[in-house]
Amino acid sequence: MKLIQTALVTLSVVCANLLSAAEIPVINPDHAVAVIAKKLAAYDAGQPAKAGYPTEAKGAKWVTVPAGDWVSGFYPGALWYTYEFAQRHHWPDQNAWLKRADAWTVGLTNQQFNTTNHDLGFMLMNSFGHAYRLTGEERYKAVVLQAAQSLTKRYRPEVGLIRSWGSIDDLKQYTVIIDNMMNLELLMWSSTHDGTTKDGTAQDLAKIATSHANRTQVEFFRPDSSTYHVVDFDPLTGAVKRKRTAQGKAADSCWSRGQTWAIYGYAYMAEATQDKKYLEQSIKAADYYLAHLPADHVPPSDFQSELTGLEFKDSSAAAIACCAFFRLSRLSDDPAVKNRFWQAAVETLSSLTQAPYFSDSPDKASALLYQARNYHADATHPLTNTSLIWGDYYLLEALLTYDAGKK
Ligand code: GLY
Repeated sequence: MKLIQTALVTLSVVCANLLSAAEIPVINPDHAVAVIAKKLAAYDAGQPAKAGYPTEAKGAKWVTVPAGDWVSGFYPGALWYTYEFAQRHHWPDQNAWLKRADAWTVGLTNQQFNTTNHDLGFMLMNSFGHAYRLTGEERYKAVVLQAAQSLTKRYRPEVGLIRSWGSIDDLKQYTVIIDNMMNLELLMWSSTHDGTTKDGTAQDLAKIATSHANRTQVEFFRPDSSTYHVVDFDPLTGAVKRKRTAQGKAADSCWSRGQTWAIYGYAYMAEATQDKKYLEQSIKAADYYLAHLPADHVPPSDFQSELTGLEFKDSSAAAIACCAFFRLSRLSDDPAVKNRFWQAAVETLSSLTQAPYFSDSPDKASALLYQARNYHADATHPLTNTSLIWGDYYLLEALLTYDAGKK
């Protein structure tokens, strides 16, 4: 963490020199984190049993899901980020944030044995992973390592990918989605923290993660570096059966959040492996994203959508992209590339922390507005023009990164 902060300080100085003062947008992390923190604390206060993980909301009240839903790690993760910020800025109530974060994290303990979905990275790294990073307590680490074991059960060498949807025993259908790139951190992290496969070695965890990243690179990207959302494979031969979408507009369109999972996932893999091919893939996907971005730095829920109004946007995709851009600006050795992604990150963060995207209204569950779970042509659909818990989670991540870099 210390190394990353030092690198960010250096980077921000380099980038500030490249950008003129007038070009640096206004971002106020203290205010934005305080607004999000107030909403997080209000939800916790209404949940004495610490059950019911927030997912989406049209108004002030979160729809909730049980532990085990793919989103269940984001609320604890947002509490850990708030605790980190509270520690860094010496908030007097920092221990209350630690207690909240721990209480919502331990509610996910049994998910370490879950083999029914691929989302263990989202669920366990955001909760137990941050818990271990910030406290160093071994009880948190043990859960992450077991979760990595569970995730390997969804990998078939015949396909070379971790199965996203369906049962591990299904020999007819083998579905993988681009989002799955985000779960590789669980394997890579475990491979360097005493994790092994049950009968194997730490390298086996890294081998599964790199195999997944390598085959995703071949099957999910189009020549213009946009992504397919879903690819179905034959589980016995590994052959591709079909490329399609479940949350975007069409099979051959580019679902914007899927694109940002790819940008972030490959930027993470580049950092974890130091393999330049992952960095290049992330940059190419990011360049597609930036080339199709409207002036306010927030994409529509699908890049091929003609619906350009605010109510059809997905600001959660912009928050994910923003985190990835900070990482790309740190990873590239090329000053022009560093500056391009630093600028993209700060412009996005500036847009996301102002109206109309940012709100402290008690009538809204999240601070980040205009998020879309799926592409929908009807803005009144419950899954579009809504609050999503991961939007505030990634916004916090971006704010903490920016805050560390500017100090
Ligand atoms: N990973 C599911 C989604 O992005 O909606």
